Amino acid sequence: MAIKKVGVVGGGLMGSGIAQTAAQAGYDVLMAEVGQELLDRGIGRVEGAWKMLSGKGRITDTQAHEYRGRFRGTLALEEFSDRDLVIEAIIENQDEKRKLFAQLDKITPKRAILASNTSSLPIIEMAAATGRPAQVAGLHFFNPAPVMKLVEIVRTIETSDETVEELRGFAQSLGKTPIIAKDTAGFVVNFLLIPYMLSAVRMYENGLATKEDIDTGMKLGCGYPMGPFQLLDYVGLDTTLYAAEAIYKEYPDPAYAPPTLLRRMVQAGRMGMKSGKGFFEYPEKR
Ligand code: CAA
Ligand code: NAD
Repeated sequence: MAIKKVGVVGGGLMGSGIAQTAAQAGYDVLMAEVGQELLDRGIGRVEGAWKMLSGKGRITDTQAHEYRGRFRGTLALEEFSDRDLVIEAIIENQDEKRKLFAQLDKITPKRAILASNTSSLPIIEMAAATGRPAQVAGLHFFNPAPVMKLVEIVRTIETSDETVEELRGFAQSLGKTPIIAKDTAGFVVNFLLIPYMLSAVRMYENGLATKEDIDTGMKLGCGYPMGPFQLLDYVGLDTTLYAAEAIYKEYPDPAYAPPTLLRRMVQAGRMGMKSGKGFFEYPEKR
Protein backbone atom coordinates (compact mmCIF):
# COMPACT_ATOMS: atom_id res chain seq x y z
CA MET A 1 0.00 0.00 0.00
CA ALA A 2 1.31 3.45 -0.81
CA ILE A 3 0.61 5.96 1.94
CA LYS A 4 -0.69 9.21 0.44
CA LYS A 5 -3.36 10.51 2.80
CA VAL A 6 -2.46 11.00 6.43
CA GLY A 7 -4.76 11.80 9.35
CA VAL A 8 -3.50 13.25 12.61
CA VAL A 9 -5.78 13.21 15.66
CA GLY A 10 -4.94 15.92 18.19
CA GLY A 11 -3.61 19.32 17.20
CA GLY A 12 -1.57 20.03 20.33
CA LEU A 13 2.20 20.33 20.58
CA MET A 14 2.89 17.00 18.90
CA GLY A 15 -0.08 16.62 16.56
CA SER A 16 0.53 20.02 14.96
CA GLY A 17 4.26 19.27 14.56
CA ILE A 18 3.59 15.85 13.01
CA ALA A 19 0.96 17.32 10.65
CA GLN A 20 3.41 20.07 9.61
CA THR A 21 6.18 17.54 8.96
CA ALA A 22 3.94 15.24 6.89
CA ALA A 23 2.55 18.13 4.79
CA GLN A 24 6.11 19.34 4.11
CA ALA A 25 7.04 15.82 2.93
CA GLY A 26 4.25 15.84 0.31
CA TYR A 27 1.41 14.03 2.10
CA ASP A 28 -2.21 15.16 2.06
CA VAL A 29 -2.80 15.88 5.76
CA LEU A 30 -6.02 16.20 7.74
CA MET A 31 -5.73 17.14 11.44
CA ALA A 32 -8.62 16.61 13.88
CA GLU A 33 -9.35 18.35 17.18
CA VAL A 34 -12.22 18.33 19.65
CA GLY A 35 -13.14 22.03 19.57
CA GLN A 36 -12.90 24.96 17.16
CA GLU A 37 -10.63 27.00 19.42
CA LEU A 38 -8.22 24.08 19.88
CA LEU A 39 -8.25 23.39 16.15
CA ASP A 40 -7.55 27.05 15.35
CA ARG A 41 -4.68 27.02 17.84
CA GLY A 42 -3.18 23.87 16.26
CA ILE A 43 -3.52 25.24 12.72
CA GLY A 44 -2.07 28.54 13.96
CA ARG A 45 1.00 26.71 15.26
CA VAL A 46 1.60 25.09 11.86
CA GLU A 47 1.00 28.37 10.00
CA GLY A 48 3.32 30.14 12.44
CA ALA A 49 6.11 27.64 11.73
CA TRP A 50 5.76 28.12 7.95
CA LYS A 51 5.78 31.88 8.40
CA MET A 52 8.92 31.58 10.55
CA LEU A 53 10.64 29.33 7.97
CA SER A 54 9.67 31.72 5.11
CA GLY A 55 10.92 34.68 7.12
CA LYS A 56 14.27 32.97 7.63
CA GLY A 57 14.49 32.09 3.94
CA ARG A 58 14.45 28.33 4.73
CA ILE A 59 11.44 27.77 2.46
CA THR A 60 10.22 29.69 -0.59
CA ASP A 61 6.78 31.31 -0.89
CA THR A 62 5.91 28.63 -3.46
CA GLN A 63 6.78 25.87 -0.99
CA ALA A 64 4.77 27.54 1.80
CA HIS A 65 1.82 27.79 -0.61
CA GLU A 66 2.13 24.09 -1.56
CA TYR A 67 2.34 23.00 2.10
CA ARG A 68 -0.80 25.01 2.93
CA GLY A 69 -2.64 23.39 0.00
CA ARG A 70 -1.94 19.92 1.44
CA PHE A 71 -3.00 20.65 5.02
CA ARG A 72 -6.40 21.24 6.61
CA GLY A 73 -8.17 20.77 9.90
CA THR A 74 -11.49 19.21 10.87
CA LEU A 75 -13.73 18.61 13.86
CA ALA A 76 -15.38 15.61 12.15
CA LEU A 77 -13.52 12.33 12.54
CA GLU A 78 -15.82 10.85 9.85
CA GLU A 79 -13.66 12.73 7.33
CA PHE A 80 -10.92 10.17 8.03
CA SER A 81 -12.78 7.65 5.84
CA ASP A 82 -10.19 8.06 3.04
CA ARG A 83 -6.99 8.08 5.14
CA ASP A 84 -4.19 5.52 4.50
CA LEU A 85 -2.47 6.22 7.81
CA VAL A 86 -3.80 7.83 10.99
CA ILE A 87 -1.44 9.05 13.71
CA GLU A 88 -3.06 9.54 17.11
CA ALA A 89 -1.56 12.39 19.18
CA ILE A 90 -4.22 13.10 21.81
CA ILE A 91 -3.66 13.39 25.58
CA GLU A 92 -1.69 10.64 27.32
CA ASN A 93 -4.71 8.71 28.61
CA GLN A 94 -5.26 5.07 27.71
CA ASP A 95 -9.07 5.11 28.06
CA GLU A 96 -9.32 8.07 25.68
CA LYS A 97 -6.90 6.46 23.24
CA ARG A 98 -8.76 3.13 23.29
CA LYS A 99 -12.06 4.91 22.62
CA LEU A 100 -10.49 6.77 19.72
CA PHE A 101 -8.93 3.63 18.19
CA ALA A 102 -12.32 1.86 18.30
CA GLN A 103 -13.86 4.86 16.48
CA LEU A 104 -11.03 5.01 13.92
CA ASP A 105 -11.42 1.29 13.25
CA LYS A 106 -15.03 1.90 12.18
CA ILE A 107 -14.33 5.04 10.14
CA THR A 108 -11.06 4.38 8.27
CA PRO A 109 -10.62 2.06 5.25
CA LYS A 110 -9.81 -1.56 6.16
CA ARG A 111 -6.32 -1.18 4.64
CA ALA A 112 -5.38 1.81 6.81
CA ILE A 113 -2.63 1.69 9.43
CA LEU A 114 -3.49 3.16 12.83
CA ALA A 115 -0.50 4.48 14.79
CA SER A 116 -0.08 6.09 18.19
CA ASN A 117 2.38 8.80 19.19
CA THR A 118 2.04 7.84 22.86
CA SER A 119 5.11 8.52 25.02
CA SER A 120 4.74 5.41 27.13
CA LEU A 121 1.38 3.61 27.05
CA PRO A 122 1.07 -0.01 25.85
CA ILE A 123 0.17 0.02 22.15
CA ILE A 124 -1.39 -3.44 22.36
CA GLU A 125 -4.28 -2.07 24.45
CA MET A 126 -5.11 0.36 21.63
CA ALA A 127 -4.69 -2.44 19.07
CA ALA A 128 -7.08 -4.64 21.04
CA ALA A 129 -9.78 -1.95 20.72
CA THR A 130 -9.70 -2.47 16.94
CA GLY A 131 -10.43 -5.35 14.59
CA ARG A 132 -7.03 -4.91 12.86
CA PRO A 133 -4.30 -5.38 15.50
CA ALA A 134 -1.74 -6.36 12.81
CA GLN A 135 -2.09 -2.83 11.39
CA VAL A 136 -1.57 -1.02 14.70
CA ALA A 137 1.82 0.20 15.97
CA GLY A 138 3.48 3.02 17.83
CA LEU A 139 4.98 5.85 15.77
CA HIS A 140 6.69 7.96 18.39
CA PHE A 141 7.98 11.38 17.33
CA PHE A 142 10.09 13.67 19.48
CA ASN A 143 9.40 17.27 20.40
CA PRO A 144 9.72 19.46 18.32
CA ALA A 145 8.55 16.95 15.71
CA PRO A 146 9.62 18.99 12.64
CA VAL A 147 13.18 19.22 13.99
CA MET A 148 14.03 16.06 15.95
CA LYS A 149 15.39 13.34 13.68
CA LEU A 150 14.25 10.23 15.56
CA VAL A 151 11.05 8.21 15.26
CA GLU A 152 10.48 5.09 17.37
CA ILE A 153 8.41 2.42 15.64
CA VAL A 154 6.81 0.41 18.42
CA ARG A 155 5.99 -3.12 17.46
CA THR A 156 3.43 -5.08 19.49
CA ILE A 157 3.22 -8.88 19.59
CA GLU A 158 0.46 -8.53 16.95
CA THR A 159 1.99 -5.93 14.59
CA SER A 160 2.74 -7.40 11.14
CA ASP A 161 6.09 -7.14 9.31
CA GLU A 162 4.26 -5.32 6.53
CA THR A 163 3.02 -2.61 8.92
CA VAL A 164 6.51 -2.14 10.36
CA GLU A 165 7.97 -1.79 6.86
CA GLU A 166 5.27 0.67 5.75
CA LEU A 167 5.98 2.81 8.83
CA ARG A 168 9.73 2.58 8.34
CA GLY A 169 9.32 3.88 4.77
CA PHE A 170 6.96 6.60 5.95
CA ALA A 171 9.35 7.78 8.71
CA GLN A 172 12.24 7.85 6.23
CA SER A 173 10.16 9.83 3.73
CA LEU A 174 9.81 12.51 6.45
CA GLY A 175 13.60 12.67 6.74
CA LYS A 176 13.56 10.80 10.08
CA THR A 177 15.69 7.93 11.30
CA PRO A 178 13.49 5.14 12.64
CA ILE A 179 14.45 2.72 15.39
CA ILE A 180 12.39 -0.30 16.37
CA ALA A 181 11.26 -0.65 19.98
CA LYS A 182 9.30 -3.35 21.77
CA ASP A 183 5.92 -2.50 23.24
CA THR A 184 7.21 -1.98 26.78
CA ALA A 185 6.41 1.17 28.79
CA GLY A 186 8.65 4.08 27.79
CA PHE A 187 9.98 2.17 24.73
CA VAL A 188 13.68 3.07 24.30
CA VAL A 189 14.12 6.80 24.81
CA ASN A 190 11.58 7.62 27.53
CA PHE A 191 12.64 4.59 29.57
CA LEU A 192 15.95 6.46 29.96
CA LEU A 193 14.81 10.09 29.71
CA ILE A 194 11.84 10.09 32.14
CA PRO A 195 13.79 8.79 35.19
CA TYR A 196 16.50 11.39 34.41
CA MET A 197 13.90 14.21 34.53
CA LEU A 198 12.28 12.74 37.66
CA SER A 199 15.70 12.59 39.38
CA ALA A 200 16.23 16.28 38.63
CA VAL A 201 12.86 17.12 40.25
CA ARG A 202 13.76 15.03 43.32
CA MET A 203 17.15 16.72 43.53
CA TYR A 204 15.49 20.16 43.48
CA GLU A 205 12.68 19.04 45.84
CA ASN A 206 15.32 17.88 48.35
CA GLY A 207 17.15 21.22 48.15
CA LEU A 208 20.39 19.78 46.73
CA ALA A 209 20.75 22.56 44.13
CA THR A 210 18.68 25.28 42.46
CA LYS A 211 16.80 24.38 39.28
CA GLU A 212 18.86 26.98 37.41
CA ASP A 213 22.12 25.36 38.54
CA ILE A 214 20.88 21.85 37.71
CA ASP A 215 19.97 23.09 34.20
CA THR A 216 23.33 24.82 33.78
CA GLY A 217 25.10 21.70 35.06
CA MET A 218 23.55 19.41 32.47
CA LYS A 219 23.86 21.92 29.61
CA LEU A 220 27.49 22.86 30.18
CA GLY A 221 28.65 19.66 31.85
CA CYS A 222 27.09 17.21 29.42
CA GLY A 223 26.40 19.30 26.32
CA TYR A 224 22.61 18.78 26.46
CA PRO A 225 20.74 21.47 24.46
CA MET A 226 18.34 22.02 27.38
CA GLY A 227 18.63 21.40 31.11
CA PRO A 228 16.07 18.98 32.67
CA PHE A 229 13.76 21.75 33.99
CA GLN A 230 13.74 23.60 30.67
CA LEU A 231 13.00 20.25 29.00
CA LEU A 232 10.23 19.38 31.50
CA ASP A 233 8.54 22.71 30.71
CA TYR A 234 9.03 22.12 26.99
CA VAL A 235 7.63 18.57 26.99
CA GLY A 236 4.76 19.47 29.36
CA LEU A 237 4.57 18.55 33.05
CA ASP A 238 1.24 16.76 32.52
CA THR A 239 2.64 14.63 29.70
CA THR A 240 5.74 13.81 31.79
CA LEU A 241 3.60 12.89 34.83
CA TYR A 242 1.29 10.62 32.82
CA ALA A 243 4.24 8.97 31.08
CA ALA A 244 6.01 8.43 34.42
CA GLU A 245 2.83 6.89 35.87
CA ALA A 246 2.58 4.51 32.92
CA ILE A 247 6.22 3.41 33.24
CA TYR A 248 5.92 3.06 37.05
CA LYS A 249 2.81 0.92 36.60
CA GLU A 250 4.83 -1.55 34.51
CA TYR A 251 8.10 -1.23 36.47
CA PRO A 252 7.25 -0.42 40.10
CA ASP A 253 10.76 0.81 40.88
CA PRO A 254 11.18 4.07 42.89
CA ALA A 255 13.26 5.54 40.02
CA TYR A 256 10.06 5.75 37.94
CA ALA A 257 7.74 7.01 40.71
CA PRO A 258 6.53 10.56 39.97
CA PRO A 259 7.81 12.99 42.66
CA THR A 260 5.14 14.77 44.71
CA LEU A 261 6.26 18.19 43.46
CA LEU A 262 5.62 17.19 39.84
CA ARG A 263 2.14 15.95 40.76
CA ARG A 264 1.35 19.13 42.72
CA MET A 265 2.45 21.33 39.84
CA VAL A 266 0.13 19.52 37.43
CA GLN A 267 -2.69 19.71 39.98
CA ALA A 268 -2.05 23.47 40.14
CA GLY A 269 -2.40 23.72 36.35
CA ARG A 270 1.30 24.49 35.83
CA MET A 271 1.80 22.43 32.67
CA GLY A 272 4.98 24.16 31.51
CA MET A 273 5.53 26.36 28.49
CA LYS A 274 2.14 25.55 26.94
CA SER A 275 0.21 26.96 29.96
CA GLY A 276 2.56 29.91 30.56
CA LYS A 277 3.97 28.51 33.79
CA GLY A 278 5.91 25.44 34.84
CA PHE A 279 9.26 25.43 36.60
CA PHE A 280 9.81 28.75 34.80
CA GLU A 281 7.39 31.44 33.58
CA TYR A 282 6.42 32.17 29.97
CA PRO A 283 4.20 35.28 30.12
CA GLU A 284 3.89 35.44 26.32
CA LYS A 285 2.19 31.98 26.27
CA ARG A 286 -0.59 32.81 28.75
N1 CAA B 1 9.59 23.57 11.90
C1 CAA B 1 10.75 23.53 11.23
N2 CAA B 1 11.92 23.95 11.75
C2 CAA B 1 11.89 24.44 13.00
C3 CAA B 1 10.71 24.49 13.78
C4 CAA B 1 9.53 24.03 13.17
N3 CAA B 1 8.36 24.02 13.80
N4 CAA B 1 11.04 25.00 15.00
C5 CAA B 1 12.35 25.26 14.99
N5 CAA B 1 12.86 24.92 13.79
C6 CAA B 1 14.23 25.04 13.36
C7 CAA B 1 14.69 26.51 13.37
O1 CAA B 1 14.31 27.14 12.16
C8 CAA B 1 16.16 26.37 13.52
O2 CAA B 1 16.72 26.08 12.26
P1 CAA B 1 17.99 26.92 11.71
O3 CAA B 1 19.10 26.59 12.68
O4 CAA B 1 18.17 26.36 10.35
O5 CAA B 1 17.58 28.35 11.78
C9 CAA B 1 16.33 25.12 14.38
O6 CAA B 1 15.09 24.40 14.29
C10 CAA B 1 16.61 25.43 15.84
O7 CAA B 1 15.58 26.25 16.35
P2 CAA B 1 15.84 27.54 17.23
O8 CAA B 1 17.00 28.33 16.69
O9 CAA B 1 14.54 28.25 17.40
O10 CAA B 1 16.18 27.00 18.69
P3 CAA B 1 17.40 26.25 19.34
O11 CAA B 1 18.62 26.29 18.51
O12 CAA B 1 17.42 26.78 20.71
O13 CAA B 1 16.90 24.73 19.38
C11 CAA B 1 15.60 22.89 20.12
C12 CAA B 1 15.63 24.39 19.88
C13 CAA B 1 15.72 22.16 18.80
C14 CAA B 1 14.23 22.59 20.75
C15 CAA B 1 16.78 22.48 21.07
O14 CAA B 1 16.76 23.28 22.22
C16 CAA B 1 16.71 21.02 21.50
O15 CAA B 1 17.12 20.14 20.77
N6 CAA B 1 16.18 20.79 22.72
C17 CAA B 1 16.02 19.44 23.26
C18 CAA B 1 14.73 18.86 22.73
C19 CAA B 1 14.51 17.45 23.18
O16 CAA B 1 15.26 16.86 23.94
N7 CAA B 1 13.40 16.89 22.70
C20 CAA B 1 12.96 15.56 23.10
C21 CAA B 1 11.95 15.71 24.20
S1 CAA B 1 11.40 14.14 24.77
C22 CAA B 1 10.20 13.72 23.70
O17 CAA B 1 9.85 14.40 22.79
C23 CAA B 1 9.58 12.36 23.91
C24 CAA B 1 8.38 12.31 24.75
O18 CAA B 1 7.61 11.34 24.53
C25 CAA B 1 8.11 13.20 25.87
P1 NAD C 1 -1.11 18.40 24.11
O1 NAD C 1 -1.80 18.50 25.41
O2 NAD C 1 -0.29 19.55 23.61
O3 NAD C 1 -2.16 18.07 22.94
C1 NAD C 1 -3.13 17.06 23.01
C2 NAD C 1 -4.30 17.54 22.14
O4 NAD C 1 -5.18 16.45 21.91
C3 NAD C 1 -5.12 18.65 22.81
O5 NAD C 1 -5.11 19.79 21.96
C4 NAD C 1 -6.51 18.04 22.93
O6 NAD C 1 -7.56 18.96 22.70
C5 NAD C 1 -6.49 16.99 21.83
N1 NAD C 1 -7.46 15.89 22.03
C6 NAD C 1 -7.77 15.24 23.16
N2 NAD C 1 -8.68 14.26 22.91
C7 NAD C 1 -8.93 14.32 21.57
C8 NAD C 1 -9.75 13.57 20.68
N3 NAD C 1 -10.52 12.56 21.11
N4 NAD C 1 -9.75 13.90 19.36
C9 NAD C 1 -8.98 14.91 18.90
N5 NAD C 1 -8.16 15.64 19.71
C10 NAD C 1 -8.15 15.35 21.02
O7 NAD C 1 -0.24 17.07 24.18
P2 NAD C 1 1.05 16.67 23.31
O8 NAD C 1 2.25 17.09 24.04
O9 NAD C 1 0.81 17.06 21.89
O10 NAD C 1 0.97 15.08 23.45
C11 NAD C 1 0.13 14.30 22.62
C12 NAD C 1 0.60 12.85 22.66
O11 NAD C 1 1.96 12.79 22.21
C13 NAD C 1 0.59 12.20 24.06
O12 NAD C 1 0.28 10.86 23.94
C14 NAD C 1 2.03 12.42 24.51
O13 NAD C 1 2.44 11.49 25.48
C15 NAD C 1 2.78 12.20 23.21
N6 NAD C 1 4.11 12.84 23.11
C16 NAD C 1 4.35 14.05 23.69
C17 NAD C 1 5.62 14.63 23.56
C18 NAD C 1 5.94 15.96 24.16
O14 NAD C 1 7.13 16.31 24.26
N7 NAD C 1 4.98 16.74 24.58
C19 NAD C 1 6.60 13.98 22.81
C20 NAD C 1 6.30 12.75 22.19
C21 NAD C 1 5.05 12.18 22.37
